[in-house]
Amino acid sequence: MNDYARSWEQEKKKCNNVILIGFMGSGKSSVGYRLSYALKRSLCDTDSLIERREGRKISKIFEEEGEQYFRDLETATLKRMIEKQEYRRCILSLGGGTPLREENRKLLKQLGTVYYLRVTPEMVWERLRGDTTRPLLQTEDPQRTIRELLSKRDPIYMEAADVVIECSGKEQDEIVEFIRKKTVEK
Ligand code: S3P
Repeated sequence: MNDYARSWEQEKKKCNNVILIGFMGSGKSSVGYRLSYALKRSLCDTDSLIERREGRKISKIFEEEGEQYFRDLETATLKRMIEKQEYRRCILSLGGGTPLREENRKLLKQLGTVYYLRVTPEMVWERLRGDTTRPLLQTEDPQRTIRELLSKRDPIYMEAADVVIECSGKEQDEIVEFIRKKTVEK
């Protein structure tokens, strides 16, 4: 291991979080909730943190300030998490777009082990059909938007991930147990 890789590993150990990434509707929040119970670790949801700090819903932030503003808030949130001791050994559930920025992917490497909950466009559509809370899916043809966004993002999620979990055909229990085991084995 070279020095860079070694210091990276040390940083990771310092924060030691379990990080869930993936597309909207991939189950990050519900897997995170159950994992936090199974591992007795606190759950932090970056979207909720942002909403609380801003005092308004994500959809309002998009509407009033635009997407870039929201993306800056995501980066600021990750930076704050690295600095603050309260974000150690937590379960972090991230907004679906957070890993898109290269800067954020680097921050994630410092924050812990990144699990990518990989889903198919069909699974997302089944779960989010009729949803009104995701601004990016309020299009004329949300099914198509899901397909296009997911195929663009999948390679980025793959790059950001330490562990990829194929969710298709798996019960949520199985996913939770898989991550739990990996975490306690470390
Ligand atoms: C987004 C995903 C959402 C939320 C925002 C943008 C995205 O979070 O952060 O609407 O770009 O994929 P969830 O993944 O929890 O739905």
